[in-house]
Amino acid sequence: MDRIRIRGGRRLKGEIPISGAKNSALKLMAAALLTDEPVVLRNVPRLADIAAMSDLLMQFGVNLNIRRGEKLGQGDVVRLHAAHIESAFAPYDIVRKMRASFQVLGPLLARHGEAKISLPGGCAIGARPVDYHLKGFEALGAEIELADGYVLARAKGGLKGTTFELPFASVGATENLMTGAVLANGRTVLKNTAREPETQDLGHFLIAMGAKISGLGTNEIVIDGVEKLSGVEYAVMPDRIETGTYALATAIAGGEVELVGAQVEAIGALIELLEKTGADVKQTNRGVMVHRNGARPRAADVTTSVFPGFPTDLQAQYMALMATAEGSSHIRETVFENRFMHVPELARMGADIHVHGDVATVNGVATLKGAPVMATDLRASVSLVLAGLAAEGETIVNRVYHLDRGFERLEEKLSAVGADIERLST
Ligand code: EPZ
Repeated sequence: MDRIRIRGGRRLKGEIPISGAKNSALKLMAAALLTDEPVVLRNVPRLADIAAMSDLLMQFGVNLNIRRGEKLGQGDVVRLHAAHIESAFAPYDIVRKMRASFQVLGPLLARHGEAKISLPGGCAIGARPVDYHLKGFEALGAEIELADGYVLARAKGGLKGTTFELPFASVGATENLMTGAVLANGRTVLKNTAREPETQDLGHFLIAMGAKISGLGTNEIVIDGVEKLSGVEYAVMPDRIETGTYALATAIAGGEVELVGAQVEAIGALIELLEKTGADVKQTNRGVMVHRNGARPRAADVTTSVFPGFPTDLQAQYMALMATAEGSSHIRETVFENRFMHVPELARMGADIHVHGDVATVNGVATLKGAPVMATDLRASVSLVLAGLAAEGETIVNRVYHLDRGFERLEEKLSAVGADIERLST
């Protein structure tokens, strides 16, 4: 199994190209099920999760071709053609490995009238139920049955427009319901919806296919169902979590890195926080420049929340920065109930962190020490890579398959800016 070796202490300098957003690309691919015409997606990142979604869609009868981007950060071009839907069955083995598979429910119900999708179950970061998705589809007129770990959903006469208020602004439920409602009969009003940039990207993609949607980026989305959607060519938005991760890497290691292609408006909460810790962040005509001089970062508190708040997907990486900061900070996680698995691993590297309920208190230390570590999810794993950049000596990050799910060519991107990092294949 591959491992990543980092020898800490190098400052970073240069540029990193930002890839397309995993959490947008996966949903756009699922939404290609909504039309019998070809859909072409550009700027698709090369990741294990994208390969898993491709396999699932091919099982439904989608014809899928990939043209590989050659340069670092260029992105693949993926052509998806769902001329006929041959099966609407998503087995446990796939959904268990990648929860985003559950996002095919909306498109399948809308286009095919039925689907059998495995319940995802819990995962390393929390219980993560799908009750809001199911209540929403029931409100849209679907019959939902749960049997043997599967959701059987039927909407034989088609979904019907309705008003539905989400109990929490869930990203996945907003997106799943949106992709169902675009072909429903009549008007759907979704209240308390997610405002995340990836949710907006999905909405813009659906509009480009002919959907009638208003209110994207607000907490009320109105969708007027249409008869049919058409094919489209569309570029996936840049990944704001990858952007934030490399911004934090620069703040941890010190140096100056331009994140080419990054969208500044998608990382507003992070920029504000980075500035409090002593880093400089500037918009450039190609993206964002992050700079930190030799001084130690300063401690600053943060609470994760829905967009435009500070994203839970950057909490572990920010904790790695705080682990080396001057002073103590409190990091509160409010989106997932169990997202501190990186704490014991950071402690192996000499970090001083205590967790009480949903708050981690981080007492910054002057130096972290390299160690063998591993993590159980993607963002936690990358936080250990970031800590390794600042640590004295050698850090080996095990279970690299987590990183491969969500960070395209991570070691190449970091070594291009001067980090001493390599993949060890065993
Ligand atoms: C998306 O997950 C992302 N995944 C996550 O990124 C991200 O952390 C999360 O949004 C929050 O921003 C993808 O886009 C593929 P939610 P999602 O529904 O949609 C509870 C990564 O590392 N909830 O907004 O699953 C839920 O348990 C991943 O790339 C219910 O209770 O997140 C959680 O506590 C990790 N019932 C909260 O809401 C439901 O029916 C937010 O979940 C749905 C959600």
